[in-house]
Amino acid sequence: MTPGKFITLEGIDGAGKSTQLAWIVECLQRADIACVVTREPGGTELGERLREILLDKSMTMNAETEALLMFAARREHLDKVILPALKQGQWVISDRFTDASFAYQGGGRGLGPDKLAVLEQWVQGGLQPDLTLYFDVPVDLGQQRVRQIKDTDRFETERADFFERVRLAYRDRARRFPQRIKLVDSNQSLHDVKSAVTRLLQPLLPHD
Ligand code: TYD
Repeated sequence: MTPGKFITLEGIDGAGKSTQLAWIVECLQRADIACVVTREPGGTELGERLREILLDKSMTMNAETEALLMFAARREHLDKVILPALKQGQWVISDRFTDASFAYQGGGRGLGPDKLAVLEQWVQGGLQPDLTLYFDVPVDLGQQRVRQIKDTDRFETERADFFERVRLAYRDRARRFPQRIKLVDSNQSLHDVKSAVTRLLQPLLPHD
C-alpha cells in the first residue's frame, strides 16, 4: 500500500482555512481518495483536552509552557492519528501543524526558533507534510472575519501587532521552504482562492 499524503493548512485566525478545508475534502472525494480530516491543537482525546486549556481565555501561561503543550498534543496526534492513517494509505488533512508553532509561539510570542526546532525534531523526527497551504491575509481582514463569526478564544483576543508578527513568521517560512509551503493569497474572491487551491493540489493527485 502506498502511504497517503499529508496536507496541512495554515494562516492567521480569520484567513479562511475552514472553508478551504471543506473544498479540499470535496476535491479528494471526487478523485476517490479517502482522507482523514483533523486539527491541531487536538485530533485525539488528550489533544482536545489540551486544546480546551490552550484556547481558554481565562488561562494564563508562559510562552514555553504553551509551546510544550502544543508539541505534547502533536506527539499524541502523530502517534494515534496521523502516522497510522498515512501507513494505511489514507490521506491526512490537518487544520494546522508545526508551522503554527513557529508562527504563533515563535513569531507571535517571541520564542526562539532554535528551541522550537529541538521540539520539532523530538516530536516528529524528519516527518514533514507533503504540502502545506498557507492562506495569507492582511491582519485587519483576518480580525474582521474572526469577530463576525464567533466568540474569540485566547489567541484571537491578541492585539493586531501579535498577528502582524505571526503573519511575518508564516511568510518567512513560506519563503524558506518553497517546495513544501505554498502561499495562497486569501485576499481575493472565494472562487479565486478555490481555484488556487485546486491548482496546488493537482501535482499530488494520481494521474492516469
Ligand atoms: P484555530 O485553528 O484557528 O481554530 P478555530 O478555527 O476553531 O478558531 O485555533 C487554534 C489556535 O491555536 C489558533 O489561534 C492558533 C493556535 N496555535 C498555536 O498557537 N500554535 C500551534 O502550534 C497550533 C497548532 C495552534
